[in-house]
Amino acid sequence: MTQDSAVLVVSDRSDRANLLARSVATVMACRQIDAAAPLPADLPLAAVVDVAHEATASAWVARLQKLRIPSLCLAGRPAAAVAPSAGVRVLPANAPRPAILTALFGLVDAQQARLARLPAGRREAEAVVHRANAMVSDLFLAAQAGADLSAAEVDAGTEEILDAVSETGIRTWLEILERYDQQLYQHSLSVAGYAAVLGASLTLGRADRIRLARSALLHDVGKARIPLSILNKPGRLTAQEEAVIRTHPVVGADLLERQGGFDARMLGVVRSHHEMLDGSGYPDGLAGAAIPDLVRLVTICDIHSALTERRSYRDPLSHAEAHAMMRDMAGKLDPDLLRAFRAAVSGLVADGAPA
Ligand SMILES: [Fe+2]
Ligand SMILES: [Fe+2]
Repeated sequence: MTQDSAVLVVSDRSDRANLLARSVATVMACRQIDAAAPLPADLPLAAVVDVAHEATASAWVARLQKLRIPSLCLAGRPAAAVAPSAGVRVLPANAPRPAILTALFGLVDAQQARLARLPAGRREAEAVVHRANAMVSDLFLAAQAGADLSAAEVDAGTEEILDAVSETGIRTWLEILERYDQQLYQHSLSVAGYAAVLGASLTLGRADRIRLARSALLHDVGKARIPLSILNKPGRLTAQEEAVIRTHPVVGADLLERQGGFDARMLGVVRSHHEMLDGSGYPDGLAGAAIPDLVRLVTICDIHSALTERRSYRDPLSHAEAHAMMRDMAGKLDPDLLRAFRAAVSGLVADGAPA
């Protein structure tokens, strides 16, 4: 986290927010954003939510609370929009400036004390997850809009992910990821996390580990072009909707190929990550030797991740249940690589950690 983002002021009334941000900035770095803007890629220590629209104010406070960022909510009617709870203080919108600053700096102090108590590497991992989530969000939104994707930005983000996962371990990585809402981004970062530990466990060289994690991060980029009504549909998909979803590997690979800057092996992963060794997968029905190891590895990370994620129509499987199910997918997954995956995530599988 950079000093620049020590305090965040979120507001839908910029005149008031300007004055407040200026007062805060005399003591510590402060950034001001509009209530309609996304959360910046750098995590703040604390935030002021000065948002007149009650539902928007509540949504901001909830989002910040989930990320363990304390917030001071300046509510039009005290407690109308937000009830005080852990990490949340509420003052009337017309509270005197000194009272606002005292409450805010109290939250900053408490947050600094909390962060100082975190185990080494944990704070950095939280910041990396946050930045990676912002990067994946940028990438998917660009893919959706047909705008350029930055291969250099993906590379930098992938290196950060590799380092953070090797520092904190996959369990912490997944636990931090749970605080984020967008299922598709969460899934991409979770598959990248599994790919990072698997690459390290297989003692691949740095370049191969980066390629594996980067392929994992972008494997579902084609889903950016699938209508949200299908992607986020609660409940089972119809056959027709399923057919639309099944276009995402080809859509994603075409999109990255047109874009340029992404190597052919990675494009292969994006196109082929739903292929199965017995030829029963899609989109090309590839079998056996036609499916490269890089694809087989991402497919294993992808399936394990998907099975252990919550879906609107089912609870997540435990890591052990997911592994048992994958072992039973006889002939579809590479048994040696599945064993290697089991070894890489042995801590999660062995103690039956909930997903
Ligand atoms: Fe996929
Ligand atoms: Fe996936």
